[in-house]
Amino acid sequence: MKDVIILAIESSCDETACAIVKNGNEILADKVASQIDVHTLYGGVVPEVASRIHIENISIIIKETLKEADMTVEEVDAIAFTQGPGLIGSLHIGVLAAKTLAWAYNKPLIPVHHLTGHIYANAFVKELKFPLLALIVSGGHTELVLMKEDYDFEVIGETLDDAIGEAYDKVGRVLNLPYPGGPKIDKLAKEGKPIYKLPTPKVESPLDFSFSGLKSAVMQAINRLKRNNEELSIEDMCASFQKTALSFLWKKVEIALDNYEVKQLVLAGGVAANSQLRKIVEEKMKTDYPDIDYIIPPLKYCTDNAAMIGASAYIAYKKGIRATYDIGAKATLDF
Ligand code: KG4
Ligand code: ZN
Repeated sequence: MKDVIILAIESSCDETACAIVKNGNEILADKVASQIDVHTLYGGVVPEVASRIHIENISIIIKETLKEADMTVEEVDAIAFTQGPGLIGSLHIGVLAAKTLAWAYNKPLIPVHHLTGHIYANAFVKELKFPLLALIVSGGHTELVLMKEDYDFEVIGETLDDAIGEAYDKVGRVLNLPYPGGPKIDKLAKEGKPIYKLPTPKVESPLDFSFSGLKSAVMQAINRLKRNNEELSIEDMCASFQKTALSFLWKKVEIALDNYEVKQLVLAGGVAANSQLRKIVEEKMKTDYPDIDYIIPPLKYCTDNAAMIGASAYIAYKKGIRATYDIGAKATLDF
């Protein structure tokens, strides 16, 4: 079969990214312009600011990506973009850039759901096997997705309130850590011990999650220490929060693995970069589920990037999924 080369654009949050991907699993070029330094000043992503920086960066990023691959737009087979979910103003910039390129160069236009990108980032490691269970853990989503076949997504569990990445970032704020809290908590937890007792979240439905109570529990524990004139160890609080959050998360994955026949577990999203979560998956899968294959994506492809959008777009391209020029960005979007 002829090679399929896709130029993909991702701009759903605070990363302006472009990549050129061959056959869904070979990265010819991959560029990410992070805005994190700017948003850190505000303690979180400011949507208006994110949109403005996307406008400033997008053409440069596309140009640099083409240069890195030593290619022209004429040489690519299709243009892909993240349609949603995400920040609407940010998404619009990527959608418009993709439409413009597709129109000017007469290329097929492929809409991609951001979370499918996170799942297909695993295709850079090895071939996906179906039925597959994807654990999506990002700043905006915490979901268990069952895929019976390629590009077939069934959400079997999701968070009822905050996403796990959001909880990491909110706890980071409570502990006065710079935004985003996730990577900082990951690092500090290594130097601490889980000595603070935090209640495990309780959710009736077996495969759903809840993380907002955990953030409140951390705040209450800190206030209690203050009242008792006891010193707070940030490292120990990070270790305590992380242990509680990840044990709860893994329990849900176990329920899913015990109740659905799957051949593979894949990890997806920004929190998949968490060193302790990666360790848990590695150890538990080897000891408790030796017959189920698993993939942990490379660190670089856990957080937002355009290569993963190119990987997902390749499958969409083969399935004949195309966008017309009247397509718009969607802040919320089902699979
Ligand atoms: O997937 P992503 O880049 O953006 C969304 O689509 O949301 O995920 C960003 C999230 C943030 O909440 C960030 O704090 C979290 O991923 N994150 C981490 C780590 N690295 C990023 N959380 C815990 N440990 C990490 N090492
Ligand atoms: Zn993401």
